[in-house]
Amino acid sequence: MQTIPSPTQNSAVSFTREDWKNGYESQPKEFDYWIDDIEGEIPAELSGTVFRNGPGLTDINGYRLRHPFDGDGMINSVAIAQGKAFYRNRFVRTQGYLAEQKSGKPEYRGVFGTQKPGGWLANAFDLNLKNIANTHIVYWGGRLLALWEAAEPHRLDPNTLETIGLDHLDGILQEGEAFAAHPKFDPDCEGEERMVTFGLKAGLSSTIRLFEFHPDGTLAKDHRHSIPGFAFLHDFAITPNYCVFVQNPVSFNPMPFVFGLKGAAECIQFNAKQPTKIVVIPRDAHSKDGGKVRFFETDPCFVFHHANAFETDDGKLILDSICYNEFPDIGDAKDYSEVDFDHVPASQLWRFTVDLATEQVDVTVPIERYCEFPTIHPQKVGRDYRYLYIGVADDETVSAPLQGLLKRDMQTGEEQVWSAAPRGFGGEPLFVARPHGTNEDDGWILLWLYNSEHNRTELAIFNAKDITTGPIAKLNLKHHVPYGLHGSFTSTYFGPDSNQ
Ligand SMILES: [Fe+2]
Repeated sequence: MQTIPSPTQNSAVSFTREDWKNGYESQPKEFDYWIDDIEGEIPAELSGTVFRNGPGLTDINGYRLRHPFDGDGMINSVAIAQGKAFYRNRFVRTQGYLAEQKSGKPEYRGVFGTQKPGGWLANAFDLNLKNIANTHIVYWGGRLLALWEAAEPHRLDPNTLETIGLDHLDGILQEGEAFAAHPKFDPDCEGEERMVTFGLKAGLSSTIRLFEFHPDGTLAKDHRHSIPGFAFLHDFAITPNYCVFVQNPVSFNPMPFVFGLKGAAECIQFNAKQPTKIVVIPRDAHSKDGGKVRFFETDPCFVFHHANAFETDDGKLILDSICYNEFPDIGDAKDYSEVDFDHVPASQLWRFTVDLATEQVDVTVPIERYCEFPTIHPQKVGRDYRYLYIGVADDETVSAPLQGLLKRDMQTGEEQVWSAAPRGFGGEPLFVARPHGTNEDDGWILLWLYNSEHNRTELAIFNAKDITTGPIAKLNLKHHVPYGLHGSFTSTYFGPDSNQ
Protein backbone atom coordinates (compact mmCIF):
# COMPACT_ATOMS: atom_id res chain seq x y z
CA MET A 1 0.00 0.00 0.00
CA GLN A 2 1.25 3.50 -0.82
CA THR A 3 1.39 6.00 2.00
CA ILE A 4 2.60 9.57 1.99
CA PRO A 5 5.27 10.19 4.62
CA SER A 6 4.65 13.01 7.09
CA PRO A 7 6.82 16.04 6.37
CA THR A 8 10.18 16.18 8.07
CA GLN A 9 11.10 19.04 10.38
CA ASN A 10 11.18 22.19 8.38
CA SER A 11 14.50 23.94 8.50
CA ALA A 12 12.92 26.81 6.51
CA VAL A 13 16.23 27.74 4.93
CA SER A 14 14.69 28.50 1.57
CA PHE A 15 12.46 31.39 2.72
CA THR A 16 11.47 33.55 5.64
CA ARG A 17 7.94 33.52 6.96
CA GLU A 18 7.84 37.32 6.80
CA ASP A 19 8.61 37.35 3.06
CA TRP A 20 6.04 34.63 2.40
CA LYS A 21 3.35 36.36 4.50
CA ASN A 22 3.78 39.65 2.68
CA GLY A 23 2.60 37.93 -0.50
CA TYR A 24 -0.79 37.43 1.14
CA GLU A 25 -1.41 41.07 1.98
CA SER A 26 -4.58 42.50 0.44
CA GLN A 27 -4.43 44.51 -2.77
CA PRO A 28 -7.51 46.72 -2.61
CA LYS A 29 -6.52 48.88 -5.58
CA GLU A 30 -7.44 48.34 -9.20
CA PHE A 31 -5.05 49.17 -12.04
CA ASP A 32 -4.84 49.45 -15.83
CA TYR A 33 -1.44 50.05 -17.45
CA TRP A 34 1.05 49.02 -20.09
CA ILE A 35 3.79 47.01 -18.37
CA ASP A 36 6.96 48.99 -18.99
CA ASP A 37 9.34 47.10 -16.69
CA ILE A 38 10.12 44.00 -18.76
CA GLU A 39 13.27 41.93 -18.29
CA GLY A 40 14.21 39.90 -21.37
CA GLU A 41 11.91 39.79 -24.36
CA ILE A 42 8.35 38.62 -24.75
CA PRO A 43 8.35 36.02 -27.57
CA ALA A 44 6.87 37.58 -30.71
CA GLU A 45 4.67 34.54 -31.30
CA LEU A 46 3.10 34.71 -27.85
CA SER A 47 -0.18 36.49 -28.37
CA GLY A 48 -3.38 36.40 -26.33
CA THR A 49 -4.62 37.06 -22.84
CA VAL A 50 -3.72 35.34 -19.59
CA PHE A 51 -6.34 35.55 -16.85
CA ARG A 52 -5.88 34.61 -13.23
CA ASN A 53 -8.29 34.51 -10.32
CA GLY A 54 -7.56 34.50 -6.60
CA PRO A 55 -8.33 36.28 -3.36
CA GLY A 56 -7.67 40.01 -3.68
CA LEU A 57 -8.45 40.77 -0.06
CA THR A 58 -7.20 38.82 2.94
CA ASP A 59 -8.80 41.27 5.34
CA ILE A 60 -12.00 43.28 5.40
CA ASN A 61 -11.21 46.77 6.59
CA GLY A 62 -8.46 45.39 8.85
CA TYR A 63 -10.38 42.32 10.05
CA ARG A 64 -8.15 39.42 8.98
CA LEU A 65 -9.62 36.43 7.22
CA ARG A 66 -8.81 33.07 8.76
CA HIS A 67 -7.98 31.61 5.35
CA PRO A 68 -7.16 33.29 2.01
CA PHE A 69 -9.64 30.93 0.29
CA ASP A 70 -12.32 33.09 1.98
CA GLY A 71 -11.03 36.20 0.17
CA ASP A 72 -13.02 38.07 -2.46
CA GLY A 73 -12.16 37.08 -6.02
CA MET A 74 -9.95 39.48 -7.94
CA ILE A 75 -9.21 38.94 -11.62
CA ASN A 76 -5.82 39.77 -13.11
CA SER A 77 -5.33 39.91 -16.83
CA VAL A 78 -2.27 40.43 -18.98
CA ALA A 79 -3.01 40.96 -22.67
CA ILE A 80 0.05 40.20 -24.79
CA ALA A 81 0.72 41.04 -28.44
CA GLN A 82 3.71 42.11 -30.53
CA GLY A 83 6.03 41.92 -27.54
CA LYS A 84 3.93 44.32 -25.46
CA ALA A 85 1.75 43.59 -22.44
CA PHE A 86 -1.16 45.37 -20.79
CA TYR A 87 -2.11 44.67 -17.16
CA ARG A 88 -5.50 45.06 -15.55
CA ASN A 89 -7.07 43.86 -12.30
CA ARG A 90 -10.64 44.08 -11.03
CA PHE A 91 -12.56 42.66 -8.11
CA VAL A 92 -15.57 40.61 -9.06
CA ARG A 93 -18.51 42.74 -7.96
CA THR A 94 -20.28 39.97 -6.08
CA GLN A 95 -23.22 40.78 -3.84
CA GLY A 96 -20.99 40.06 -0.82
CA TYR A 97 -18.06 42.20 -1.98
CA LEU A 98 -20.35 45.17 -2.63
CA ALA A 99 -22.14 44.78 0.73
CA GLU A 100 -18.93 44.50 2.75
CA GLN A 101 -17.17 47.34 0.98
CA LYS A 102 -20.18 49.50 1.72
CA SER A 103 -20.51 48.57 5.39
CA GLY A 104 -16.76 48.24 6.03
CA LYS A 105 -17.15 45.04 8.02
CA PRO A 106 -17.56 41.27 7.47
CA GLU A 107 -21.18 40.45 6.69
CA TYR A 108 -20.66 36.77 5.87
CA ARG A 109 -18.97 33.71 7.31
CA GLY A 110 -16.30 32.05 5.16
CA VAL A 111 -16.33 28.39 4.16
CA PHE A 112 -12.71 28.06 5.31
CA GLY A 113 -13.28 29.32 8.84
CA THR A 114 -13.52 33.10 8.73
CA GLN A 115 -16.22 34.09 11.23
CA LYS A 116 -18.03 37.37 11.63
CA PRO A 117 -16.83 39.37 14.62
CA GLY A 118 -18.70 38.76 17.87
CA GLY A 119 -17.92 35.15 18.69
CA TRP A 120 -20.05 32.08 18.10
CA LEU A 121 -23.28 33.84 19.05
CA ALA A 122 -22.86 36.21 16.13
CA ASN A 123 -22.29 33.28 13.78
CA ALA A 124 -24.53 30.45 14.97
CA PHE A 125 -27.28 29.42 12.54
CA ASP A 126 -26.02 31.85 9.88
CA LEU A 127 -25.62 29.39 7.01
CA ASN A 128 -25.67 32.09 4.34
CA LEU A 129 -22.54 31.71 2.21
CA LYS A 130 -20.91 34.41 0.12
CA ASN A 131 -20.37 33.49 -3.55
CA ILE A 132 -16.85 34.89 -3.59
CA ALA A 133 -16.04 34.02 -7.22
CA ASN A 134 -12.36 33.55 -6.36
CA THR A 135 -11.20 30.17 -7.68
CA HIS A 136 -10.82 30.09 -11.46
CA ILE A 137 -11.49 32.14 -14.56
CA VAL A 138 -12.20 30.71 -18.01
CA TYR A 139 -13.21 32.11 -21.39
CA TRP A 140 -15.66 29.87 -23.25
CA GLY A 141 -18.44 30.45 -25.74
CA GLY A 142 -17.75 34.19 -25.76
CA ARG A 143 -18.19 34.47 -21.99
CA LEU A 144 -15.54 35.21 -19.39
CA LEU A 145 -16.63 33.35 -16.26
CA ALA A 146 -15.27 33.72 -12.71
CA LEU A 147 -15.85 30.41 -10.96
CA TRP A 148 -16.50 29.35 -7.38
CA GLU A 149 -17.57 25.76 -7.02
CA ALA A 150 -20.48 26.10 -4.58
CA ALA A 151 -22.58 28.46 -6.70
CA GLU A 152 -23.16 29.82 -10.18
CA PRO A 153 -20.45 31.74 -12.09
CA HIS A 154 -20.12 35.51 -12.45
CA ARG A 155 -19.73 36.82 -15.97
CA LEU A 156 -17.25 39.60 -16.75
CA ASP A 157 -16.43 41.71 -19.77
CA PRO A 158 -13.09 40.31 -21.04
CA ASN A 159 -12.03 43.72 -22.35
CA THR A 160 -12.61 45.70 -19.15
CA LEU A 161 -13.02 42.98 -16.45
CA GLU A 162 -16.22 44.75 -15.41
CA THR A 163 -18.66 42.42 -13.69
CA ILE A 164 -21.77 41.82 -15.78
CA GLY A 165 -23.43 39.69 -13.07
CA LEU A 166 -24.35 36.16 -12.11
CA ASP A 167 -24.63 33.94 -15.17
CA HIS A 168 -27.04 31.00 -15.30
CA LEU A 169 -25.82 30.04 -18.76
CA ASP A 170 -29.09 30.73 -20.56
CA GLY A 171 -31.17 28.97 -17.92
CA ILE A 172 -29.05 25.84 -17.66
CA LEU A 173 -28.28 26.56 -14.00
CA GLN A 174 -30.78 27.18 -11.23
CA GLU A 175 -30.29 30.13 -8.90
CA GLY A 176 -27.42 29.30 -6.52
CA GLU A 177 -26.66 25.99 -8.23
CA ALA A 178 -23.18 24.55 -7.76
CA PHE A 179 -20.89 24.82 -10.80
CA ALA A 180 -17.37 23.46 -10.39
CA ALA A 181 -14.30 25.68 -10.62
CA HIS A 182 -12.30 23.11 -12.61
CA PRO A 183 -13.73 22.67 -16.09
CA LYS A 184 -11.72 20.48 -18.44
CA PHE A 185 -11.28 21.22 -22.11
CA ASP A 186 -11.44 18.17 -24.37
CA PRO A 187 -9.37 19.12 -27.43
CA ASP A 188 -11.30 16.83 -29.77
CA CYS A 189 -14.76 15.43 -29.08
CA GLU A 190 -16.78 14.58 -32.19
CA GLY A 191 -14.62 16.99 -34.15
CA GLU A 192 -14.81 19.99 -31.84
CA GLU A 193 -13.34 21.28 -28.61
CA ARG A 194 -15.62 20.80 -25.61
CA MET A 195 -15.80 22.29 -22.15
CA VAL A 196 -16.64 19.47 -19.77
CA THR A 197 -17.54 20.30 -16.19
CA PHE A 198 -19.76 19.37 -13.27
CA GLY A 199 -21.80 20.58 -10.34
CA LEU A 200 -21.88 18.78 -7.00
CA LYS A 201 -24.70 18.57 -4.50
CA ALA A 202 -23.16 16.88 -1.46
CA GLY A 203 -25.15 15.21 1.27
CA LEU A 204 -25.77 11.79 2.81
CA SER A 205 -25.64 10.74 -0.81
CA SER A 206 -24.21 13.12 -3.40
CA THR A 207 -25.34 14.09 -6.87
CA ILE A 208 -22.94 14.93 -9.68
CA ARG A 209 -24.38 16.86 -12.61
CA LEU A 210 -22.16 16.54 -15.67
CA PHE A 211 -22.21 19.16 -18.41
CA GLU A 212 -20.56 19.37 -21.81
CA PHE A 213 -20.60 22.62 -23.76
CA HIS A 214 -20.09 23.22 -27.48
CA PRO A 215 -17.62 25.95 -28.49
CA ASP A 216 -20.52 28.42 -28.89
CA GLY A 217 -21.47 27.85 -25.23
CA THR A 218 -24.60 25.81 -25.91
CA LEU A 219 -25.17 22.57 -24.07
CA ALA A 220 -24.01 19.34 -25.69
CA LYS A 221 -24.66 16.94 -22.79
CA ASP A 222 -26.26 17.12 -19.37
CA HIS A 223 -26.72 14.12 -17.07
CA ARG A 224 -26.94 13.47 -13.35
CA HIS A 225 -25.53 10.64 -11.26
CA SER A 226 -25.99 9.79 -7.63
CA ILE A 227 -23.11 8.37 -5.60
CA PRO A 228 -23.39 6.99 -2.07
CA GLY A 229 -22.06 9.03 0.83
CA PHE A 230 -20.73 12.54 1.35
CA ALA A 231 -18.39 13.72 -1.40
CA PHE A 232 -15.87 16.54 -1.53
CA LEU A 233 -15.05 16.92 -5.21
CA HIS A 234 -13.01 19.98 -6.13
CA ASP A 235 -11.59 18.81 -9.44
CA PHE A 236 -11.93 15.91 -11.86
CA ALA A 237 -10.25 14.47 -14.94
CA ILE A 238 -11.57 13.43 -18.33
CA THR A 239 -10.73 10.92 -21.03
CA PRO A 240 -12.54 10.55 -24.37
CA ASN A 241 -14.97 8.13 -22.72
CA TYR A 242 -15.04 8.94 -19.01
CA CYS A 243 -15.23 11.58 -16.31
CA VAL A 244 -13.02 10.52 -13.43
CA PHE A 245 -13.43 11.70 -9.83
CA VAL A 246 -11.70 10.83 -6.59
CA GLN A 247 -14.06 10.45 -3.64
CA ASN A 248 -11.87 11.26 -0.68
CA PRO A 249 -12.35 9.22 2.52
CA VAL A 250 -13.93 12.07 4.45
CA SER A 251 -16.99 12.60 6.56
CA PHE A 252 -18.79 15.84 7.32
CA ASN A 253 -20.21 16.81 10.69
CA PRO A 254 -21.93 20.17 10.16
CA MET A 255 -22.67 20.84 13.86
CA PRO A 256 -19.62 23.04 14.64
CA PHE A 257 -20.49 25.06 11.52
CA VAL A 258 -24.16 25.36 12.43
CA PHE A 259 -23.29 26.49 15.97
CA GLY A 260 -20.90 29.15 14.75
CA LEU A 261 -17.68 27.50 15.91
CA LYS A 262 -16.04 26.50 12.63
CA GLY A 263 -16.24 27.09 8.89
CA ALA A 264 -18.00 24.43 6.80
CA ALA A 265 -14.73 23.15 5.29
CA GLU A 266 -13.26 22.82 8.79
CA CYS A 267 -15.98 20.26 9.56
CA ILE A 268 -14.49 17.81 7.05
CA GLN A 269 -12.89 14.85 8.79
CA PHE A 270 -10.31 12.70 6.99
CA ASN A 271 -10.61 8.99 7.75
CA ALA A 272 -7.16 7.49 7.16
CA LYS A 273 -8.39 3.94 7.61
CA GLN A 274 -10.95 4.12 4.83
CA PRO A 275 -10.14 3.60 1.16
CA THR A 276 -10.18 6.39 -1.36
CA LYS A 277 -12.60 5.67 -4.21
CA ILE A 278 -11.95 6.40 -7.87
CA VAL A 279 -15.34 7.15 -9.42
CA VAL A 280 -15.61 6.55 -13.16
CA ILE A 281 -18.65 7.93 -15.00
CA PRO A 282 -19.14 7.38 -18.76
CA ARG A 283 -19.45 10.66 -20.66
CA ASP A 284 -22.00 9.03 -22.92
CA ALA A 285 -25.08 7.88 -21.00
CA HIS A 286 -25.81 5.54 -23.92
CA SER A 287 -22.40 3.87 -23.93
CA LYS A 288 -22.08 0.10 -24.09
CA ASP A 289 -21.90 -0.11 -20.30
CA GLY A 290 -25.17 1.80 -20.07
CA GLY A 291 -23.64 4.87 -18.50
CA LYS A 292 -23.14 2.99 -15.24
CA VAL A 293 -21.03 4.62 -12.53
CA ARG A 294 -18.16 2.42 -11.36
CA PHE A 295 -16.15 2.65 -8.13
CA PHE A 296 -12.58 1.43 -7.62
CA GLU A 297 -11.05 1.38 -4.14
CA THR A 298 -7.48 2.44 -3.59
CA ASP A 299 -5.05 3.57 -0.87
CA PRO A 300 -6.25 6.34 1.51
CA CYS A 301 -5.27 9.84 0.39
CA PHE A 302 -6.84 13.26 -0.05
CA VAL A 303 -7.01 14.86 -3.50
CA PHE A 304 -7.79 18.41 -4.59
CA HIS A 305 -6.29 18.40 -8.08
CA HIS A 306 -5.65 16.05 -10.95
CA ALA A 307 -2.93 16.38 -13.56
CA ASN A 308 -4.53 14.23 -16.26
CA ALA A 309 -6.17 10.92 -17.10
CA PHE A 310 -6.14 8.69 -20.16
CA GLU A 311 -7.13 5.26 -21.40
CA THR A 312 -4.69 2.63 -22.67
CA ASP A 313 -5.14 0.15 -25.50
CA ASP A 314 -5.15 -2.75 -23.03
CA GLY A 315 -8.19 -1.59 -21.06
CA LYS A 316 -6.60 0.44 -18.34
CA LEU A 317 -7.45 3.88 -17.05
CA ILE A 318 -4.53 6.00 -15.87
CA LEU A 319 -5.17 8.84 -13.40
CA ASP A 320 -2.45 11.23 -12.19
CA SER A 321 -3.41 13.16 -9.06
CA ILE A 322 -1.84 15.27 -6.33
CA CYS A 323 -2.39 13.29 -3.14
CA TYR A 324 -2.10 14.46 0.49
CA ASN A 325 -1.79 12.23 3.52
CA GLU A 326 -4.76 14.01 5.13
CA PHE A 327 -7.12 16.93 4.58
CA PRO A 328 -4.84 19.97 4.39
CA ASP A 329 -6.40 22.37 6.88
CA ILE A 330 -4.48 24.96 8.91
CA GLY A 331 -4.77 23.15 12.22
CA ASP A 332 -4.68 25.28 15.36
CA ALA A 333 -3.20 28.37 13.70
CA LYS A 334 -5.14 31.57 14.39
CA ASP A 335 -5.05 32.34 10.70
CA TYR A 336 -3.32 31.06 7.59
CA SER A 337 -0.26 33.28 7.94
CA GLU A 338 0.65 31.55 11.23
CA VAL A 339 0.39 28.01 9.83
CA ASP A 340 3.00 25.57 11.11
CA PHE A 341 4.66 24.13 8.01
CA ASP A 342 6.00 21.19 10.00
CA HIS A 343 2.39 20.04 10.28
CA VAL A 344 1.10 20.94 6.84
CA PRO A 345 0.21 17.67 5.13
CA ALA A 346 2.66 16.62 2.45
CA SER A 347 1.55 16.01 -1.11
CA GLN A 348 2.93 13.84 -3.89
CA LEU A 349 2.02 13.07 -7.48
CA TRP A 350 0.48 9.59 -7.58
CA ARG A 351 -0.31 7.58 -10.69
CA PHE A 352 -3.33 5.28 -10.33
CA THR A 353 -3.55 2.50 -12.91
CA VAL A 354 -7.08 1.14 -12.91
CA ASP A 355 -7.69 -2.18 -14.65
CA LEU A 356 -11.27 -1.73 -15.80
CA ALA A 357 -11.69 -5.51 -16.28
CA THR A 358 -10.23 -6.86 -13.01
CA GLU A 359 -10.93 -3.72 -10.93
CA GLN A 360 -7.35 -3.88 -9.63
CA VAL A 361 -5.79 -0.46 -8.88
CA ASP A 362 -2.02 -0.07 -8.79
CA VAL A 363 -0.36 3.04 -7.36
CA THR A 364 3.05 4.45 -8.21
CA VAL A 365 4.59 7.76 -7.11
CA PRO A 366 6.21 9.68 -9.98
CA ILE A 367 6.88 12.79 -7.84
CA GLU A 368 7.66 12.26 -4.16
CA ARG A 369 8.43 15.86 -3.21
CA TYR A 370 5.81 18.42 -2.14
CA CYS A 371 4.01 19.62 -5.27
CA GLU A 372 0.76 21.28 -6.35
CA PHE A 373 -0.92 22.93 -9.34
CA PRO A 374 -0.14 20.72 -12.35
CA THR A 375 -0.42 21.84 -15.97
CA ILE A 376 0.02 20.06 -19.32
CA HIS A 377 -0.25 20.78 -23.05
CA PRO A 378 -3.96 21.49 -23.77
CA GLN A 379 -3.97 19.06 -26.70
CA LYS A 380 -2.98 16.26 -24.29
CA VAL A 381 -5.92 16.61 -21.91
CA GLY A 382 -7.45 13.12 -21.62
CA ARG A 383 -4.67 11.62 -23.75
CA ASP A 384 -1.43 9.82 -23.02
CA TYR A 385 1.02 12.63 -22.39
CA ARG A 386 4.67 13.12 -21.83
CA TYR A 387 5.34 16.41 -20.07
CA LEU A 388 3.97 17.60 -16.76
CA TYR A 389 4.75 21.01 -15.21
CA ILE A 390 3.99 21.64 -11.55
CA GLY A 391 4.78 23.93 -8.64
CA VAL A 392 7.17 22.50 -6.04
CA ALA A 393 8.74 23.53 -2.75
CA ASP A 394 12.39 24.57 -3.02
CA ASP A 395 13.56 21.89 -0.60
CA GLU A 396 12.77 18.36 -1.74
CA THR A 397 12.29 17.06 1.77
CA VAL A 398 9.82 19.42 3.38
CA SER A 399 6.32 20.78 3.13
CA ALA A 400 6.79 24.48 2.40
CA PRO A 401 5.48 27.28 0.17
CA LEU A 402 5.75 26.71 -3.56
CA GLN A 403 8.87 28.50 -4.74
CA GLY A 404 9.89 26.24 -7.60
CA LEU A 405 8.77 24.93 -10.94
CA LEU A 406 9.32 21.32 -12.00
CA LYS A 407 9.03 19.77 -15.45
CA ARG A 408 8.77 16.00 -15.51
CA ASP A 409 9.09 13.70 -18.49
CA MET A 410 6.48 11.08 -17.57
CA GLN A 411 8.03 8.62 -20.03
CA THR A 412 11.68 8.74 -18.97
CA GLY A 413 11.37 10.18 -15.46
CA GLU A 414 13.79 12.97 -16.33
CA GLU A 415 13.15 16.17 -14.41
CA GLN A 416 14.09 19.84 -14.74
CA VAL A 417 13.75 22.23 -11.82
CA TRP A 418 13.92 25.99 -11.42
CA SER A 419 13.43 27.85 -8.16
CA ALA A 420 12.65 31.45 -7.21
CA ALA A 421 14.03 30.93 -3.69
CA PRO A 422 14.94 32.50 -1.39
CA ARG A 423 12.79 35.60 -1.92
CA GLY A 424 10.49 34.57 -4.75
CA PHE A 425 7.28 32.56 -4.39
CA GLY A 426 5.31 30.81 -7.12
CA GLY A 427 2.03 28.99 -7.61
CA GLU A 428 0.20 27.52 -10.59
CA PRO A 429 2.13 27.32 -13.87
CA LEU A 430 0.28 27.50 -17.16
CA PHE A 431 1.47 25.85 -20.37
CA VAL A 432 0.82 27.82 -23.57
CA ALA A 433 1.56 26.03 -26.83
CA ARG A 434 3.60 27.82 -29.48
CA PRO A 435 1.42 28.34 -32.56
CA HIS A 436 2.17 25.61 -35.12
CA GLY A 437 4.52 23.90 -32.65
CA THR A 438 5.07 20.21 -33.24
CA ASN A 439 6.62 18.86 -30.05
CA GLU A 440 4.64 18.48 -26.84
CA ASP A 441 6.94 20.87 -24.97
CA ASP A 442 7.08 23.42 -27.78
CA GLY A 443 5.65 26.41 -25.94
CA TRP A 444 5.94 28.56 -22.87
CA ILE A 445 5.25 28.28 -19.18
CA LEU A 446 3.60 31.33 -17.67
CA LEU A 447 4.13 31.58 -13.92
CA TRP A 448 3.02 34.36 -11.56
CA LEU A 449 5.72 35.06 -9.01
CA TYR A 450 5.69 37.15 -5.85
CA ASN A 451 9.02 38.95 -5.49
CA SER A 452 9.26 39.77 -1.78
CA GLU A 453 12.45 41.79 -2.22
CA HIS A 454 10.58 44.38 -4.31
CA ASN A 455 7.12 43.57 -2.89
CA ARG A 456 5.76 43.12 -6.39
CA THR A 457 4.19 40.45 -8.53
CA GLU A 458 5.82 39.36 -11.78
CA LEU A 459 4.60 37.30 -14.69
CA ALA A 460 7.48 35.03 -15.69
CA ILE A 461 7.64 33.42 -19.13
CA PHE A 462 9.77 30.28 -19.52
CA ASN A 463 10.76 28.34 -22.59
CA ALA A 464 9.01 25.04 -21.77
CA LYS A 465 11.75 23.03 -23.48
CA ASP A 466 14.27 24.12 -20.87
CA ILE A 467 13.05 25.75 -17.68
CA THR A 468 16.38 25.40 -15.88
CA THR A 469 17.81 28.59 -17.34
CA GLY A 470 15.00 30.62 -15.78
CA PRO A 471 12.50 33.00 -17.34
CA ILE A 472 13.18 34.26 -20.86
CA ALA A 473 11.04 37.27 -19.95
CA LYS A 474 9.74 38.74 -16.72
CA LEU A 475 6.91 41.26 -16.71
CA ASN A 476 7.26 43.23 -13.50
CA LEU A 477 4.10 44.78 -12.13
CA LYS A 478 4.22 48.08 -10.28
CA HIS A 479 2.75 46.46 -7.15
CA HIS A 480 1.93 43.09 -5.66
CA VAL A 481 -1.25 41.07 -5.89
CA PRO A 482 -1.94 38.32 -3.36
CA TYR A 483 -1.04 34.73 -4.33
CA GLY A 484 -3.64 33.47 -6.79
CA LEU A 485 -5.43 30.21 -7.35
CA HIS A 486 -6.18 29.26 -10.96
CA GLY A 487 -5.97 30.88 -14.35
CA SER A 488 -6.22 30.25 -18.06
CA PHE A 489 -4.97 31.53 -21.39
CA THR A 490 -6.91 32.43 -24.49
CA SER A 491 -5.34 33.25 -27.82
CA THR A 492 -7.75 36.20 -28.14
CA TYR A 493 -6.06 39.53 -27.32
CA PHE A 494 -8.22 41.52 -24.89
CA GLY A 495 -6.02 44.57 -24.52
CA PRO A 496 -6.10 48.12 -25.88
CA ASP A 497 -4.80 48.94 -29.32
CA SER A 498 -1.06 48.36 -28.94
CA ASN A 499 -0.30 51.60 -30.79
CA GLN A 500 -1.78 53.59 -27.90
FE1 LIG B 1 -8.32 24.10 -7.51
